[in-house]
Amino acid sequence: EKKLCLSIVVLGASGDLASKKTYPALQFLFRNGFLPHNVSIIGYARSPLTDHQLRDKLRPRLSGGEEERDAFLKHCTYVQGDYVGSQGWQGLEGVLSGREGKYHGCPCGRLYYLALPPSVYPQVCSGLKTYCDALPKTEGSWLRVIVEKPFGRDLSSSEELAEVLGQLYPESQLYRIDHYLGKEMAQNLFVMRFANMFLSPVWNRNCISNVQITFKEDFGTQGRGGYFDTFGIIRDVIQNHLTQLLAFVAMEKPLSIHPDDIRDEKVKVLRCIQPVQEHHVVLGQYTAADGQPGYTDDPTVPSGSKTPTFAAVTLFVDNDRWSGVPFVLKAGKALNDRKAEIRVQLRPTPHFVFGGNPERMRNELVVRLQPDEAIYLKMIVKRPGLETGDCAISELDLDYGKRYPGVVIPDAYPRLILDAIRGDQQHFVRRDELRAAWAIFTPLLHAVDEGRLPVHPYPYGSRGPPEADELLARAGFVQNLDY
Ligand code: BG6
Repeated sequence: EKKLCLSIVVLGASGDLASKKTYPALQFLFRNGFLPHNVSIIGYARSPLTDHQLRDKLRPRLSGGEEERDAFLKHCTYVQGDYVGSQGWQGLEGVLSGREGKYHGCPCGRLYYLALPPSVYPQVCSGLKTYCDALPKTEGSWLRVIVEKPFGRDLSSSEELAEVLGQLYPESQLYRIDHYLGKEMAQNLFVMRFANMFLSPVWNRNCISNVQITFKEDFGTQGRGGYFDTFGIIRDVIQNHLTQLLAFVAMEKPLSIHPDDIRDEKVKVLRCIQPVQEHHVVLGQYTAADGQPGYTDDPTVPSGSKTPTFAAVTLFVDNDRWSGVPFVLKAGKALNDRKAEIRVQLRPTPHFVFGGNPERMRNELVVRLQPDEAIYLKMIVKRPGLETGDCAISELDLDYGKRYPGVVIPDAYPRLILDAIRGDQQHFVRRDELRAAWAIFTPLLHAVDEGRLPVHPYPYGSRGPPEADELLARAGFVQNLDY
């Protein structure tokens, strides 16, 4: 096999996202032998930097000893250029084709990673398409573009952006990142659901009472308030990350594991969800507590902002499998915990002949994405001892740290970048999927933007507004008795 001439271009290389996420992810892949040893990683941005200065800027963000960092940094160079006009782009194209010319007859791969705000995507993609598209015709050559949310603010702005990008690149070249799809347990959810015989007969409205998908962070906006305030928690986390998880929980088994077969099923299930109704929503915003600042104390947040930093919404999937089962998506910043998990709660056991209240002893399957990946099943067992007929809730527990000691679970970003290099779009969001997800939340987002819904204050470090517990209770969620 002829070797691949791989060039990765990081657009916005001098920015925060690039040094925090993109370069460390690339270094992880490089250190673990997933990038060809001749890979070239070209940073592109407006700031005047030399290769040397870029490397100095990146070095503290990388991992390993000095030698390991340098081994990676040797592959990193910098091209300064503008996002408007032609000059910068022509310079970049010169570097790329100059290099590709040396690999005569070899396939070439170009990965354009946009570590830039979406507002400049149209301009940048059009520059790239016009000036940096001279890929050699060698068989096996490819050019792919990675972009990341926010993809618009609602259905129509997202469609507008998709239309512009779609004019420039076909769907097969566009890789839309939702980094939750790169998480080990999100991917595992798919395998767990469709590979286990014992799950399939119960995975429906007959046995499942409610589903809860929760995202909690124990810190506030931390200086990201400017960005956050224009989006809010629904656009930041719920419309994308949590909705993607919901799709995995609720989708039908795909025809095959071909990326498009999987994404077809995800779109189908998302399209079964009606837009969120206002009485199925609780919003919140954190306030100062215990020496921690409130949301509007963040100097980057406009004073008096009503942007929600917490939201709980109940969705219904109107199809044969799920009709009537509430799915509660809950996300908040500055809460008491940092956690992302999915909780599938079953109905109470009928004709319960043992002691105890079956209403408060529910089978529950929990998939914890972070921290400490785990899957556990709450099970009712005999309370150990001489008493008969007495039972208790216990756990069948698959804790990844214990079960796979020493196995490194890679972060989402390296995984997704590697998928893009391999041309696997399974864990990237297709345009119709994005549209279906926006359709669910758009009327609600407009109501929120118009200030039509109450935003309940909750203290920094608390569980969020108590109204959210009421929403969960209405969805049928029951707190299991402790053992
Ligand atoms: C991002 C959001 O997409 O996801 C952030 O913009 C959030 O606000 C982050 O903090 C959470 O990601 P993770 O991987 O830390 O759970």
